Amino acid sequence: MIEEEEKLMDYYNRKEVVDSYEQVRFNTPFKKANHEVEISIINAYLKEYSNIKLLEIGVGTGRVTRNLIFTGKGIGVDSSENMLNNIRKKIYNKKWSFIKQNIFNLNFPKSSFDVVITLRVIRHFDNGSIRKALKQIHNVLKKGGLLIFDMPNSDYNCRYLNKLLETKKKNKNEIYESKIPINLLVNELTALGFNIIDIKPIKFEYLRLVSYLAEILKIKWFMNVVFNYIYKKEVSCYNNKKCSDILIISKKSFFG
Ligand SMILES: C[S@@+](CC[C@H](N)C(=O)[O-])C[C@H]1O[C@@H](n2cnc3c(N)ncnc32)[C@H](O)[C@@H]1O
Repeated sequence: MIEEEEKLMDYYNRKEVVDSYEQVRFNTPFKKANHEVEISIINAYLKEYSNIKLLEIGVGTGRVTRNLIFTGKGIGVDSSENMLNNIRKKIYNKKWSFIKQNIFNLNFPKSSFDVVITLRVIRHFDNGSIRKALKQIHNVLKKGGLLIFDMPNSDYNCRYLNKLLETKKKNKNEIYESKIPINLLVNELTALGFNIIDIKPIKFEYLRLVSYLAEILKIKWFMNVVFNYIYKKEVSCYNNKKCSDILIISKKSFFG
């Protein structure tokens, strides 16, 4: 286990990080809108499946988990005991079971799952760890099985906007963010035996500006209208330079 991987696991096992996770994730209308976009894209893909076995890796507090719409059974794994205690209190039904497992050592038989979802996990790994994690996922996915995960977009070209709007994040220097070029990641996925189905934009930093202005001017309703309009427009026509985060949708190849 390399140092960065351990650091990430330790960070997300801290009680204060677990307790404040959802508050931090949803503390601005901008973040809420990003969450909604992510979930709606994932659910649109899940609609194509019925009675599936789904694996979510790095479930955390269940931000994604409790919004997934599918028929079948879900297994949620996480390396953090404290995250698992949190989610078990929130999601208590026969559809889901939660167990402690490490993405780098998934303990399931080969080809166990129809769908694997992992949000805000792989994006925190360096290139070597990304490859290790994807290999593990490839092993537990069925042939033709769906994989959805998010990444920072290396093609995003408005970083000055981020600098300008950057809020002081407490964990800014603690958590690693991948800088892997998207074309390299696509090559990596292909070499490991995945076919890319789609790449969807999920975060437009310029909307952060709209969100700030709406708050200052106390016209949140206006922001909601703008967000709805822009997201519908942007998500349907992918411009890879404008979005800072993307969802990568791929399927395990039937061959190899
Ligand atoms: C940023 S949180 C994301 C939680 C949730 N997926 C979401 O999007 O809100 C990252 C999660 O990944 C888990 N995690 C970190 N390293 C892991 C590993 N090696 N194996 C499994 N889970 C891991 C953390 O404990 C944490 O719950």
